[in-house]
Amino acid sequence: MPSIGIIGAGNIGRAIAGALARNGIAATLSNSRGPDSLRDTVSAIGPTILAGTREEAAAKDIVFVAVNWSKLPAALAGLPDFGGRIVVDANNPIEAPLFRPAELGGRASSEIVAEFVPGARLVKAFNHLQPPLVAGDPAAEGGRRVLFLSGDDAGAKAQVGALIDRLGFFGIDLGPLAVGARLVQFPGGPLPALNLVRFA
Ligand SMILES: NC(=O)c1ccc[n+]([C@@H]2O[C@H](COP(=O)([O-])OP(=O)(O)OC[C@H]3O[C@@H](n4cnc5c(N)ncnc54)[C@H](OP(=O)(O)O)[C@@H]3O)[C@@H](O)[C@H]2O)c1
Repeated sequence: MPSIGIIGAGNIGRAIAGALARNGIAATLSNSRGPDSLRDTVSAIGPTILAGTREEAAAKDIVFVAVNWSKLPAALAGLPDFGGRIVVDANNPIEAPLFRPAELGGRASSEIVAEFVPGARLVKAFNHLQPPLVAGDPAAEGGRRVLFLSGDDAGAKAQVGALIDRLGFFGIDLGPLAVGARLVQFPGGPLPALNLVRFA
């Protein structure tokens, strides 16, 4: 099992941690204020989730990033080269309180996030559902809730796809970032916020 870190311990970071904890998978959760600020949070999520520094989370094999769009540059600044490790981009280019779409210059938001994580194999995933649907039981509707993923590295997508499967979701590969990340991006793509379930 690859080691897992999460940068961002808000609604989506905690939901991802919850999905991992429900399946007995270990992860290090981090925020901007340090591990002491997360003690109560991690103990409420489950025993496999530990509080750590941003640097500790970023050193894992698979690093989820779930940070407000405007804070991504600071949250990812100064980290060592990812050296081929996987970053899962769970972010969307819009944020409270204004909910004004970020200026992306015609690119998919994940193509911009990729520039903040040199050396990473970036997979877009876990960005298109409300946090309770990420944290909740993916079998709740009698099938398997769908999670989309996209990326340019087949090996990285296979690893994230295996994790999605282990969490009980049904992963659907939307292709490379330039295609899939646009389909699933909020705002702009047609797929965000759809609670889709696959019935076998
Ligand atoms: N909420 C949703 O429905 C939803 C759904 C899908 C995707 N998303 C995407 O997921 C991302 C996070 O959304 P959210 O709703 O989870 O936001 P949130 O509740 O505001 O949480 C943001 C997290 O980012 C952390 N952070 C900010 N600056 C940081 C830094 N420099 N270093 C480390 N951590 C830092 C914050 O830590 P501190 O509190 O310590 O500053 C906080 O834990 C966004 O890109 C959003 O578009 C959200």
